[in-house]
Amino acid sequence: MILKVGPAGSRLRGDLTPPGDKSISHRAVILASLAVGQSRIEGLLESEDVRATASACRQLGMKSHEDGEALLVDGVGAEGLSAPVGPLDMGNSGTAMRLLAGVLVAQPFNSELIGDRSLSARPMRRIVHPLSLMGARIQTTDSGTPPLLITGNPHLKGINYASPVASAQVKSCILLAGLYAQGETRVTEPRKSRDHTEKMLPSFGVPLLAGCAVSGGSRLTAAHVRVPGDISSAAFFMVAATMLPDSSLILNNVGLNETREGIIHLLEAMGADLKIINRRMYGEEAVGDIRIRYNGQLTGIDIPLQWIPSLIDELPIIMALAAVSDGITRIRGAEELRIKESDRISVMARGLESLGVRLTEYRDGMDIEGSAIRGGSVDGAGDHRCAMSFCILGQLADSELEVNGCGNIDTSYPGFAHDLKTVGGRIKSTPSR
Ligand code: S3P
Repeated sequence: MILKVGPAGSRLRGDLTPPGDKSISHRAVILASLAVGQSRIEGLLESEDVRATASACRQLGMKSHEDGEALLVDGVGAEGLSAPVGPLDMGNSGTAMRLLAGVLVAQPFNSELIGDRSLSARPMRRIVHPLSLMGARIQTTDSGTPPLLITGNPHLKGINYASPVASAQVKSCILLAGLYAQGETRVTEPRKSRDHTEKMLPSFGVPLLAGCAVSGGSRLTAAHVRVPGDISSAAFFMVAATMLPDSSLILNNVGLNETREGIIHLLEAMGADLKIINRRMYGEEAVGDIRIRYNGQLTGIDIPLQWIPSLIDELPIIMALAAVSDGITRIRGAEELRIKESDRISVMARGLESLGVRLTEYRDGMDIEGSAIRGGSVDGAGDHRCAMSFCILGQLADSELEVNGCGNIDTSYPGFAHDLKTVGGRIKSTPSR
């Protein structure tokens, strides 16, 4: 799908409620499926990625139906899953595949997890290795990519795993397998990744033990989950409002979990006019409304290494922001970006260069210099976050910008183009050639 955006001249005004948090939505559906009883999930993200998780859970026996805005999930209990009839299709979603793999390795039946072209190229050894230490049997391609052929083993043993990467998908996958393993399963990581699994498990009746651990044999009971708005989706509008002269936006119900707040710290450090109002809690998750206004004072910074896990998904839009900020923004320690839905360092570097941005690409990041933005055409490469980043940057371009490869925006933010238009952005879709 192609989106045409810009040229410059619009200002963004009004308020928006970003869609539900993707990470929390996946976890809510999985834990509710494993719980005994009926769970209620409010504010679930209705995107292709979350649909893939829900559809897989249904194939494993979970039942669900809508109740107004909420989803009611009839869980089957951790031991109540049934063998799926065919392969489980995770679409574009690494989170769906890696988290569900943690559950499926412990079942008394076999299963197969497949995905689209992008997911089929993503590394799975990062979960296969620790799961194998627990006794799991998983076959991948020779290069360690999907499909995952899982021979179920209900006799896993707990491990103490020091993960070499700060990855919430790896951590959550191991903790989910740990629910079925003998003894305790503990995960440590080099820097703290998002902790939604740890925050959500206790509400399903599973205590989180000291040092990020669970006890095998824990049983899950139904829960009520309120899903906050996704800060990673809100980030596109936060950045847009700081870039476009005379803009002022309020973003409602945004999740403000401290492991996800890097974008807020970054915008403040770059000089943005941002205020959080009405901080509150949805269960264990912090939420607030964000007021953000243009002030024309954005300056590039060296992004501290320790912030990287807390803004990893926001780096494409941060790169777009850096391209229109004064001076140079330096990003390092972000090599994980090369193995996301696309090689995000390369896709963003090629795209920004084609719009006239001066930059230097590194293995683990980029130096980006504030520049004038040209229109023309750019490739989002089928990566939702890169495509949306170019759509925002194009609002400032000197002529219309055609953003190709926008087809996967619906994996995380189905109403993106509509929301951008609603607050005054210039965006229209044209059929793919
Ligand atoms: C996610 C974890 C992160 C993030 C992804 C969602 C999750 O990936 O980039 O979009 O929900 O656990 P990694 O665990 O690979 O860092």
